[in-house]
Amino acid sequence: MIKSAPIGMFDSGVGGTSIFKAVQQLLSKEQIIYLADSRNAPYGAKSKSEIIDLSYKNTELLLDQGAKIIVVACNTATTNAIKELRCSFDVPFIGIEPAIKPAALQSKSKVIGILATKGTLSSELFTKTSELFAKNTEIIEVIGEGLVPLVEKGLLNSEKTRNLLTRLLQPMIAKGIDYLVLGCSHYPYLIPLIKEILPEGVQIIDSGEAVAKQTKAVLQNAKLLSDRLEKDSIFFSNKNPKVLDDLVNYNRIEKFKVSYLDF
Ligand code: SIN
Repeated sequence: MIKSAPIGMFDSGVGGTSIFKAVQQLLSKEQIIYLADSRNAPYGAKSKSEIIDLSYKNTELLLDQGAKIIVVACNTATTNAIKELRCSFDVPFIGIEPAIKPAALQSKSKVIGILATKGTLSSELFTKTSELFAKNTEIIEVIGEGLVPLVEKGLLNSEKTRNLLTRLLQPMIAKGIDYLVLGCSHYPYLIPLIKEILPEGVQIIDSGEAVAKQTKAVLQNAKLLSDRLEKDSIFFSNKNPKVLDDLVNYNRIEKFKVSYLDF
């Protein structure tokens, strides 16, 4: 494998662009090839075997593009499929897991909230992480039913999105959370609205920075960090390149192109 090979990244849709941004900020000399599998979004309500099949398909496509490492920029795919991916392919995989550990460690009220998909909250990996790192903390779990499709449509600030979020966050507010963990890569785009709904002082944690640091560490260790940017990053969407393009611009991501790809 050569240093200038791209980083491959996939998500069930456009949400993983929040992870892309964090990785590109830390690793500005890396070309990243991003797959937005919007045609199959949301993954959160699918069965484990469907999520594994889709994750295999995305990985194979990224490997065909020469990827040296795969970032699974989707919580649902990480929690349901990363073990199988690591067993089947000979490249390193970085996953994105809900930041339960830092939230539980820093929480003073010892009540934290997590907003994630059904697939993530019911996964074995999530259950194990919670048991291990949040023993003395009450976790209020809420399925963000309906949020991914709204982000996929680019409705980040609509009345419908605000009403749904208000309803979803209410049980956490009632229980007095002081940390909210965003357990889905689509949700960071809703932070401005979430902040308006949550009481002042509640901290919001997402996992972008942790994923970026881990990607850097693994590439460094394998002596695969690129020393100069040779090609612009590419975003492929199999459904709505326009929404993807808007979000990439919203994130002020530089040096990229967005294309439709039938996958
Ligand atoms: C989904 O496709 O349901 C959400 C993606 C995620 O869990 O990050």
